[in-house]
Amino acid sequence: MGKKILITGANGQLGNELQKLASDYPQFEFFLTDIDTLNLCDKAEMKSFFDGNPMDYIINCAAYTAVDRAEEEVENCYKVNRDAVQNIAESVQKQTRIIHISTDYVFDGTGKTPLRESDRTNPQSVYGKSKLAGEQILMEIKPESIVIRTAWLYSPFGNNFVKTMIRLGKERDSLNVVNDQTGTPTHAADLAKAVLDIIIWSEEKNIFPAGIYHYSNEGVCSWYGFTLKIHELAGITAGKVHPVPTSEYPTKAPRPMYSVLDKNKIKSTFQIEIPEWEESLERMMKRQ
Ligand SMILES: NC(=O)c1ccc[n+]([C@@H]2O[C@H](COP(=O)([O-])OP(=O)(O)OC[C@H]3O[C@@H](n4cnc5c(N)ncnc54)[C@H](OP(=O)(O)O)[C@@H]3O)[C@@H](O)[C@H]2O)c1
Repeated sequence: MGKKILITGANGQLGNELQKLASDYPQFEFFLTDIDTLNLCDKAEMKSFFDGNPMDYIINCAAYTAVDRAEEEVENCYKVNRDAVQNIAESVQKQTRIIHISTDYVFDGTGKTPLRESDRTNPQSVYGKSKLAGEQILMEIKPESIVIRTAWLYSPFGNNFVKTMIRLGKERDSLNVVNDQTGTPTHAADLAKAVLDIIIWSEEKNIFPAGIYHYSNEGVCSWYGFTLKIHELAGITAGKVHPVPTSEYPTKAPRPMYSVLDKNKIKSTFQIEIPEWEESLERMMKRQ
């Protein structure tokens, strides 16, 4: 029997992309759970699940991702983004390798050059703080784990920026989009493949190089530039989108102004290639 991989949060964006890819990796046996089948906040449920199903790998895609709502639902946010991660780390067997997903929101966004894994964290939102707390508790309990920070995730599943901009582009005559926040979009399918390729690499080399890694697509844009490309690919009339500064688009949770991730560590460690964001966006839109 192949190595057993548990995907938590399997109904989310990244979880769905991993599900889609699973059949390309027949050497692995996948277990898919979400809150209805394995609530990561329920420690007793977790213990009994892992006692009956020892795993070789866990890819933790479960998270509380409602960034603005988190400013009010602080406790709920921490329950999933920190406490559930602690539950995983404390409930799994010793040999189980954990790949946990985190975010660019652990940074304050004041930098001007691509962010390295070793750069100082300074989250500005409840969501960012809870995700950093999740990374830290995992590394404290199970330092042999891998954390992958990603950014601006989109997919054909659930709610995300790409789907919202397509909808608003069709509904409205005019749309203001922030032009002074800089980052890189990430097609969740690319991240899903990277995660599975990391597992393949680890199996082949028989090592699991613990630590934090950054992953997004290649390239840089603003939300405004991202929207122009989304509309171009969706065939939405040009000229509807207007650039505005962040000050004209206030949100409950502050966003990092600059969150381009430096991907050199993940690329050189695991010999993976990362597609440019425009190329990946086009691929995703063709799947819609
Ligand atoms: N989305 C982004 O732009 C972005 C950017 C950077 C990093 N990330 C990180 O990337 C990872 C994947 O994000 P995503 O966009 O795929 O998230 P998502 O679509 O919100 O999916 C998260 C999944 O986790 C489930 N979940 C919530 N609480 C749970 C619990 N207690 N037990 C089990 N499952 C639970 C959710 O179920 P419900 O829907 O029922 O709550 C949902 O299906 C997360 O770690 C996120 O923090 C995301």
